[in-house]
Amino acid sequence: MLRLDHVRAGYGSTPVLHEVSLSLDSGEIAAVLGRNGAGKTTLMRAISGTIPCTGGSLSFDQTDLCSLSAFKRARLGISHVPQGRDIFPKLTVAENLQVAASAFGKSQSDELEGAFEQFPILAEKRKARGGSLSGGQQQILALARALMARPKLLLLDEPSEGIQPSILDEIATTVEQINTQRGIAVLVVEQNLDFAARVAHRGLIMDKGEIVEELDITELSRDRELQRRYMAL
Ligand SMILES: Nc1ncnc2c1ncn2[C@@H]1O[C@H](COP(=O)(O)OP(=O)(O)OP(=O)(O)O)[C@@H](O)[C@H]1O
Ligand SMILES: [Mg+2]
Repeated sequence: MLRLDHVRAGYGSTPVLHEVSLSLDSGEIAAVLGRNGAGKTTLMRAISGTIPCTGGSLSFDQTDLCSLSAFKRARLGISHVPQGRDIFPKLTVAENLQVAASAFGKSQSDELEGAFEQFPILAEKRKARGGSLSGGQQQILALARALMARPKLLLLDEPSEGIQPSILDEIATTVEQINTQRGIAVLVVEQNLDFAARVAHRGLIMDKGEIVEELDITELSRDRELQRRYMAL
């Protein structure tokens, strides 16, 4: 469903991604792993359209994405949960969800009730400001918000970052459910190998703006040498 062929992208005149090629099948979860600064976030931004592609081709269900704005890509079914989550800290939980629902022309009350049913913690906190939630709760809010667009593909940038170990399991279960119950494909950036191995089927290792290895994620969990070389573990 998602296909990148020799994609190049960067910031201004600074290239970051060098000819990245990868593909993701519908319903699949793949993890992108690599050190700080490897280009993982830049890859997610290039797919969602936050930054333009400067070369190569990028397609989603056979539609060329490079010529489309971020908003049009979102309408096609690509939802991006950025690193750091970017929820609105001053808006309540319910308002954070309403903003997303209305941006996609969905019925706010139906979508909100669906989200509250699936994520009881959000129902409990519906009147709390986004900024007052714990890291784990904010991540769940960010996931619920991304689902408002009824995506086919979810881009998750370091969902485990800054989250207490005791909540990681819940976040991983949520990602798995999103995939198995709704059939949404997920491309997840992670530095936490255990988290990635739990949710993903396949691992893509990024280094210096390139995908340098593509392998079964259980293989990566066993390969200490690869982990040392590319992941600073
Ligand atoms: N907005 C920006 N403007 C200019 N350069 C940037 C910008 N964001 C990132 N970079 C540069 O692009 C390169 C890749 O950064 P990127 O954020 O994609 O890495 P990352 O793999 O996501 O790292 P991390 O694991 O720390 O999140 C780095 O050299 C970084 O300094
Ligand atoms: Mg990053």
